[in-house]
This record gives sequence, C-alpha cells and structure tokens, in this order.
Amino acid sequence: MRADVTGSDDRMADISVRTRLLDLPTNTRPSYIEGLPSFFVRPPTPEANTRSPRPEPLRRLRIALAPGVPVRHRFSRREPWPRSRTEPEEHMINTSALRAQPTLVGKSVRLVPLSAKHTDAYFAAALDEEIRRLTGTHRHLTYAQAQEWCESRAGHTDRLDLAITATEDGRFLGELSIYAVSPENESAGYRIALSSIEFTGQGLGREATQLVLEYAFERIGLHRIWLYVYAFNMRAITVYRSCGFSVEGKLRDSLQWEGRRHDALLMAVLRDRHRTK
Ligand SMILES: CC(C)(COP(=O)(O)OP(=O)(O)OC[C@H]1O[C@@H](n2cnc3c(N)ncnc32)[C@H](O)[C@@H]1OP(=O)(O)O)[C@@H](O)C(=O)NCCC(=O)NCCS
Repeated sequence: MRADVTGSDDRMADISVRTRLLDLPTNTRPSYIEGLPSFFVRPPTPEANTRSPRPEPLRRLRIALAPGVPVRHRFSRREPWPRSRTEPEEHMINTSALRAQPTLVGKSVRLVPLSAKHTDAYFAAALDEEIRRLTGTHRHLTYAQAQEWCESRAGHTDRLDLAITATEDGRFLGELSIYAVSPENESAGYRIALSSIEFTGQGLGREATQLVLEYAFERIGLHRIWLYVYAFNMRAITVYRSCGFSVEGKLRDSLQWEGRRHDALLMAVLRDRHRTK
C-alpha cells in the first residue's frame, strides 16, 4: 500500500520543498507522525488498494519537509531510522582471516595454501580409485583442469583451500577446503581427502581437521561447520565424530556407485561443541 504524503497544491506552490523517503512499519498510521500538519498527508487512493490487495511489508511515505516549517515526527532525525528489511545484518566473521590463506602447523601435518606447485600430486590423487569411491567422485579431471584449479586458489578469498603436507619433509598428503562460507549465518562447508589410502589410519586426517576447525572457529569466527559423508565411510565418520561433529540428517540414496545406492549423512559441529572437545 502506498500513501503519498505531500503538501496541498496552493500551500506548497510558493515554498521550496525538500523531500525524504521514510520506511515505516505497515501498521504505522500518518497520525503517528506527531506535529506533521494533516495537509502533508494524502491517504492511499482506492485504486492503489485494488491494484495491491495485500499490504506491502513496509509502507513508504513521502514526507515533504519545507525549510522553516517545524516538523516533529515520531522518528527523531538524531535517532537511527528504522532498519529496512533489505539492509544487511551485522555479522561477526573475520573475512581478513579468510583472505589470509594461512599456514597451520601441527605435529605431523602442515596445512599450506594450495597452489600451482601441488598440481602433479593433486592430479595423481584424483586418479586414485579408492579415494574416488570414498568421496563419491564420478567426474574425471583432466591435467589442465587440475592445474587450473590449483593455480586459481590464491585468487579466491571467500574460501580456504589448503594442501595437507608432512611437517617433516613437505610431502603432499592431501587437501581440504572450507567453502560455501555464509558470513550472514557464520557457517561454512568442510571437505577433506587424503591423497592415497596409504596415508590413512595414521591420525593425519584428524590432526588436519582439528587444525582447520581451530582456525575456522577461533580466527575466522564461524559458528557452524557442516559436511556430507557417505554412510559407508566409517573411518571418516569416526574422525568427524571425534572432532565434535554430529549427524544431523540423512540424504537417502544420494550416491549411485557401481550399481548400488548409498545414503549420505549431513554432519555439523558448532563452535561451542568444538571448544568442549
Ligand atoms: C577421512 C580421512 C580424512 C580420515 O583421516 P585419517 O587420517 O585416515 O583418520 P585417522 O587416522 O585420524 O583416524 C581414523 C579413525 O577411524 C577409525 N576407523 C578406521 N576404519 C574404521 C572402520 N571401518 N570403522 C570404524 N572406525 C574406523 C580408526 O580406528 C581411527 O579411530 P581411532 O583413532 O579412534 O582408533 C581420511 O581417511 C581420508 O581422507 N580418506 C579418503 C577420502 C575420504 O574418505 N574423505 C572424506 C570424505 S567425506
């Protein structure tokens, strides 16, 4: 519903007029605007009502403020205007910690920004049949695609893509990502894959996950981190549980692999839960 507020034609003709648009709650009546002379307010026309049967969530009133005419309205000009529904919410995440692409060092693993120098190892991991099964990867990467992916990571400042390397000798062991970051909800997705089965079962994935969760919660300031894991991947589920994740739901038959269908689980950890681990 649109209410036009304007001056009467003859009163307004000889004064210079400034106009301002105010967003007011739907149920705000012009009478709430204390001190505003009634001739400033023109009620909504019947045609406007028939054109717009449902009221808009916010009614825009055009208020004519003539210099020198005292207008004391409900919302003092010194107070903040009512928040518009389209205004972004304030949030607490530290986006510079995302942009920083950090190096995180643990006892056995060092997480470093994924870059062009990891292309060969990244491409080799993408060919590993068992890793492909565990991650439900149908797509076959070409070397050029792997190269493009590794090279372009540094330019993506809204996510973290880190290579998992051995603290001892820098060997590439796998990679992980914090992605789909939602600053408004302080949440993000997580994925990890060691590059070969020979690296699994040695505590490397758990240490890498703990390092990145610590950074995501304490430095970036995220509140929630979620992931998907196939229900048959018990090793991964054990590790995620030990890092504070719990199962929130099941996506039935979401993977078809060699003629069999498999469920995926949605798991997530909240900052408080992570702190108590
Ligand atoms: C998932 C992954 C990151 C886990 O890292 P990891 O270094 O292998 O795991 P860890 O050695 O830290 O821990 C493995 C845990 O799983 C347990 N585990 C292994 N096989 C298991 C099984 N079949 N059932 C239950 N638990 C099992 C181990 O006992 C160990 O737990 P514990 O330390 O409490 O005894 C890693 O295995 C990986 O990248 N796998 C290939 C890709 C993949 O599956 N990615 C995840 C996709 S969601």
